Amino acid sequence: MTPPLIIANWKSYKTEKEAKLWLTIFKEHRELLLSKTVMLLAPYTCLSSLKKEIDALGLPIVLGAQDISPFSEGAYTGEINALQIREFASYVLIGHSERRRLLLESDELISKKVAMAKKEGLEVLLCVQDIETPIPEGVTMVAYEPVSAIGTGHPDTPENAASVITKIKQKGISYGIYGGSVTAENVRSFTEHVSDGVLVGSASLDPRNFLAIINHA
Ligand code: PGA
Repeated sequence: MTPPLIIANWKSYKTEKEAKLWLTIFKEHRELLLSKTVMLLAPYTCLSSLKKEIDALGLPIVLGAQDISPFSEGAYTGEINALQIREFASYVLIGHSERRRLLLESDELISKKVAMAKKEGLEVLLCVQDIETPIPEGVTMVAYEPVSAIGTGHPDTPENAASVITKIKQKGISYGIYGGSVTAENVRSFTEHVSDGVLVGSASLDPRNFLAIINHA
């Protein structure tokens, strides 16, 4: 059995200094990290120094970005493109519901981002809210995150999550991840039979909470 993917999504939290501090705790828990596949989706501003620290400490943590420009390099003020991300990270999260809702990202924009990421060799983790959300071509890893479960303390039931993830995987998706109010207490109910891993927001910010999730997954 492949170990579950445990993914931290820091969202717009943590300065570079705080990010480095978070990482130091993992030095003593290398064995635990090796028992799962651990990924960290960090803000752009932390990626460079996190990569240096992870490499220097030899930690088995995969780095990813939380978004990507739909454009290649060029005159696109404020955008961070695939090549810039690829210097530091191998994954990118695309289509999180917070971006769909607050920044009005459309399915069309999201599929442009996916195409750009794939073109430059980045692995994509696409967020969908339900079974109806379109999945662009080339995506193999999907996180099902019902909006009602994000940051609310009210996760989906494992039964419903299992049913949605099964349908998503029937579309040719290799990895079906669950996200929304995952904690150390409930993580097992999702990783045991329901999903190939979990996407963790709030509970990933405190390194001890995140370690407990890795431990219990
Ligand atoms: P949450 O966030 O764990 O705080 O619910 C999950 C996410 O938005 O990815």
